[in-house]
Formats: sequence, structure tokens, C-alpha cells
Amino acid sequence: MNLLFLGDIVGKPGRDVVHAELPRLKQSLKLDFVIANGENAAGGFGLTRAIAEEFFAIGIDVISTGNHWADQKEILTYIDSEDRILRPANYPKGTPGKGANLYQTAAGSVLVVNVMGRVFMDALDDPFAAVERELSACALGEGADAIVVDVHAEATSEKMAMGHFCDGRASLVVGTHSHVPTADAQILPGGTAFQCDAGACADYDSVIGMDKAEPLQRFTRKMSSQRFSPATGPATVCGIFAQTNGKGLATRIEPVRQGGRLKQTLPEL
Ligand SMILES: [Fe+2]
Ligand SMILES: [Fe+2]
Repeated sequence: MNLLFLGDIVGKPGRDVVHAELPRLKQSLKLDFVIANGENAAGGFGLTRAIAEEFFAIGIDVISTGNHWADQKEILTYIDSEDRILRPANYPKGTPGKGANLYQTAAGSVLVVNVMGRVFMDALDDPFAAVERELSACALGEGADAIVVDVHAEATSEKMAMGHFCDGRASLVVGTHSHVPTADAQILPGGTAFQCDAGACADYDSVIGMDKAEPLQRFTRKMSSQRFSPATGPATVCGIFAQTNGKGLATRIEPVRQGGRLKQTLPEL
């Protein structure tokens, strides 16, 4: 199976570059399934129904999220009836939405699990226990032909630990939330593709996708003067391409970077 995972899509520039690049990527990479993290899609904060519908219309199959999942309150009215949007699985019991779901595609079934780290983040339930629950309920090769885990976390250590925790039991474990792509794409010893952070689909003349003036002012003067807003220059699509075999394990992982100012890279099939 050919999978594409896109990192956090930030604001309109992020949405625009995904709209521009995804159709070509779907063709050239012969994609069977596309997941994107959409927690920053609406002006940098959360996800609206209209934006989610746009993403589905251009071929994103599932939208994962993170700590910003409920920044747009309207999501609370539709997340329970929309299986294609996930929020982290380790929110307290009773939180609207779900953290994992199984999707049927022409190429087979894909379990997607969204989970949030706890290091330098809000204290949620144990992410490892949450992932264990989902992987035991729907095992690779039994319940699902491929499994993708979006580990939305600040600390690379916690994300690497999650990669090893899932090694041999998931097709791809990929980090989100830090909005900068890491250079550690690898297939772990047990056959799970892994990268600490997918990066963001955002303008990189910015501070993690946000217009740089306000973050700089907050860092240098310890004062805030306005809210953060997405940087508006040309954005880069940042993501991970992974290929799986008949057992659902990874045979290939490659970074994807297209458009905008980051050094471009595109896997060749
Ligand atoms: Fe994010
Ligand atoms: Fe986040």
C-alpha cells in the first residue's frame, strides 16, 4: 500500500499548497491512502467543517488533530458523526469524537490512531496505554492491513519511544506538533516506518508557521501585543511517503517536501 501522511496544515497558505500539490502527488506516488493533520487548518487554530469538507474533496481520506483539535468550537457539533476526523485517543472518557478508526480502501483496510504526548504538554491519559488498547483491539495483519499512528507530541524522546513501542505492530509511526520536519526517516528493526516529525504544511519564513513578528516580540520583550496568525508567504507541503508489504510492514519511507522555501524532495517510484 502507498501511504502519504501530511504534517500540520497551517492556515490558508498551508491549505493552498496542499490543494495545489496533492493531486500531482496522488498520481506520481500512486497513493492508496492520505492522512493529514488538520489541527491548525483554520487560521492556525482548529478545524472548521467547511475546511474539513474541502480536504475530503481533494482526496484527503482522514484528518488527524492534536492539542488544537477543539479550538473552533463548531467541531463539537459534528465530530461525533464524522468518522474521518480524529482527535487524540488519550483525552478523558466522555470527550466528543474518537481517537482511532478503521477505514476500508480499495487496497485494504487502514487503522489510523491519533494520540498526544504528555512531555511539555497538557497532562492527558497515558498515550502508550491508549495506543496499546487500539493495537490490541485491531492488530496488524489481522484487523487491519496497515496501521498509521500520528503521535502529536513536543518531545522527540517521547515520539521515538512511541515508535519503538509500536515497532513491528504498526506500518508507520509519525510525529506531528513541532511543525519542523526531522531528518530521521527510517524503518525500525521490527519493520515500522518512523519519523519524529512530519513537519508542517506552512510558510517556513515564520516561527513554526506563524507570522514571525508576534513570536519574536514575545520572546524578546516578554509581552504579547496581538494573537498569533499564520505567515502568509508561499507554503511548503511537508509529509511522509511510506510503502507497506503484504504483512503491513514498511518497505520504504521517504520525506516529501514540495513548494515554498524548504529544500524540495520527492520520492521516485
Ligand atoms: Fe500543530
Ligand atoms: Fe499541536
